[in-house]
Amino acid sequence: MSVRIRSEQADDIVHIHDVIVAAFLKAPHADHTEQFIVRELRRLGALTISLVAEEDGLLVGHVALSPVRISDGANNWYGLGPISVLPERQGNGIGSQLMNSAIQQLKQIEAKGCVLLGDPKFYNRFGFAPRKGLVLSGVPEEYFLALLLEGDLPQGEVFYHKAFLATDYQ
Ligand SMILES: CC(C)(COP(=O)(O)OP(=O)(O)OC[C@H]1O[C@@H](n2cnc3c(N)ncnc32)[C@H](O)[C@@H]1OP(=O)(O)O)[C@@H](O)C(=O)NCCC(=O)NCCS
Repeated sequence: MSVRIRSEQADDIVHIHDVIVAAFLKAPHADHTEQFIVRELRRLGALTISLVAEEDGLLVGHVALSPVRISDGANNWYGLGPISVLPERQGNGIGSQLMNSAIQQLKQIEAKGCVLLGDPKFYNRFGFAPRKGLVLSGVPEEYFLALLLEGDLPQGEVFYHKAFLATDYQ
């Protein structure tokens, strides 16, 4: 089956919500608010990149990217996540295709770099690794990963967009 990665369109929004809910339902370390984060990012105009994976006309995966703030003032850095693939379609390379397309799109918008919170076993292969001096408060440093695309590595604390505090009750 062939998978196509493309930017989200208005018709996708309801399906993106469902894919995120399903992907994180049994995921370890999930807050189960991931679908609300994406909704809030979109509402606030902070969903810089939103890619879907489509397979035989069905939406099977999604990845979101949004701007982050870094305490040293570095700009043009982004946070990747949440990333989701339907449980029954995981392990077939769809997540990797979403990752590669996301990185391509970041280069197109001339992003300086990207951070994410996740298991290095999966994300190392795309060039993400813990970087000394670039931290996210409250998380073990081995899980906070960065990919430098251009220039020097910033130093300091990273802050995700306020939409990451979103819950269903807003
Ligand atoms: C993470 C996720 C997007 C990967 O998508 P996928 O389509 O299964 O990924 P791929 O098929 O391209 O890659 C699978 C590889 O990643 C590894 N992998 C997948 N999820 C992983 C995870 N959470 N931790 C560590 N490794 C993981 C698999 O073991 C496999 O490794 P291998 O290639 O060495 O065999 C998907 O598993 C998912 O939606 N998980 C639930 C939601 C989640 O935890 N998202 C990440 C946090 S934002």
